[in-house]
Amino acid sequence: MKKINFRISIVLLVLFSLGIYSCKESETVSPERQNGILNLPYEPFNYSNINFPAHFSEPDLHGGPQNSIVSNDNMPTTNQITNAGATLGRVLFYDKNLSKNGRVSCASCHVQAKGFSDPKVLSKGFEGGTTRRHSMGLTNARFYRKGTFFWDERAATLEEQVLIPIQDEIEMGLTLDTLVARIESTDYYAPLFEDAFGDKTVTIDRISKSLAQFVRSLVSYESKYDIGRATVNRATDDFSNFTQEENLGKTLFLNIAPLGGLGCTTCHGTEAFITPSKSTNNGLDAESTTDLGVYESTGNPLDIGTFKTPSLRNVALRAPYMHDGRFATLEEVIEHYNSGIQAHPNLEIVLKDPAGNPRRMNLSQEEKDALVAFLKTLTDEKFSEGEKFSNPFR
Ligand code: HEC
Ligand code: HEC
Repeated sequence: MKKINFRISIVLLVLFSLGIYSCKESETVSPERQNGILNLPYEPFNYSNINFPAHFSEPDLHGGPQNSIVSNDNMPTTNQITNAGATLGRVLFYDKNLSKNGRVSCASCHVQAKGFSDPKVLSKGFEGGTTRRHSMGLTNARFYRKGTFFWDERAATLEEQVLIPIQDEIEMGLTLDTLVARIESTDYYAPLFEDAFGDKTVTIDRISKSLAQFVRSLVSYESKYDIGRATVNRATDDFSNFTQEENLGKTLFLNIAPLGGLGCTTCHGTEAFITPSKSTNNGLDAESTTDLGVYESTGNPLDIGTFKTPSLRNVALRAPYMHDGRFATLEEVIEHYNSGIQAHPNLEIVLKDPAGNPRRMNLSQEEKDALVAFLKTLTDEKFSEGEKFSNPFR
């Protein structure tokens, strides 16, 4: 009897310790685990396999023929989004250790609730210095086919861009060597690198790739606009979930002049409301003096005063507006297009009248309000409040 009991307890003991062991084992193979510092889900969020709505794949759009949004994807085959890669990128994006004195992270100047822009006209770096230009919203940055980044497009790829603020003397102030050393000596990164890249080696290439994966995952496709768009064949058809005012604003925005619109989509085109392949001048100033825009990176005189056209997704969240943050509200932006366009030598033709002068839109108050109402339908709360893009630090 005693012997049997003894055997049973041995068996139980073995089973019990196997149980503990396998628990431990499954914890270590799932590095996306919770710990005292990070609040990450056991199962990573889905960043890599999003079911974009059908209108993201449809070519016909708006006033003129345009490519589908997904055909403008700048994600390279050498850096496809994975759930573990974007998770690592998310932690890096929110980690203040990536700045010299631990005071700022990428998220200090790219605030989720503000469409990943900064409510300040100019942002503050790690020592309180200010940036040269207004921060850019990061929504749907992935769908800029040309793949260049910054207002003046000076970064040739997103992988190149994400390392620039880290080394910038005003923004984050680290050398790449210090960056690697810091990440190597921070405990919570080893399992995240292992999961994303197969082992825990920290390299500049891996840091750049994972940050770029997180930024490319910042896609908005669940706004009021998307819900309405999914119910009609053409974007220009009235949406049943829109008010009359929003539908009027949409017509003005999407249609070209001969069809009773303002041609905003000539530059803010596709379902990302972006110019996929070139920078433009929208008549902010008659002359470029302090900021020459894309010319600063190309040296081409036709680029003087042209800037990357930002995607208008979530635009209502990210005041102030333009590369220098000169307009505090959307109403001021609309008034610029209505009555304030300046005769810059590189002013885009769609903003000129037939005589070649800056176009005057002569909008009524009702039309101006309608345009603002339409722009607000591009706000996506699932994007601006969703946990998967939020700060993972406790
Ligand atoms: C101190 C504020 C600040 C910090 C910190 C910062 N940024 Fe920015 N970011 C800006 C400003 C300002 C711009 C526009 C600068 C320009 O165009 O000259 C910008 C532009 C960008 C762009 C270009 C978007 C586009 O559509 O072209 C990306 C992407 C970006 N930042 C990502 C990041 C990432 C990733 C980090 C962290 C590694 C980061 N930023 C840290 C202020 C900041
Ligand atoms: C010629 C091309 C062009 C046309 C047409 C155009 N835009 Fe723009 N838009 C731009 C560019 C370029 C910028 C950024 C300019 C800068 O900061 O220097 C911009 C910026 C904006 C912004 C601010 C975005 C931000 O994040 O700061 C809004 C809002 C906007 N446009 C709305 C409109 C509306 C509404 C119309 C139609 C009435 C319109 N645009 C027509 C090129 C254009």
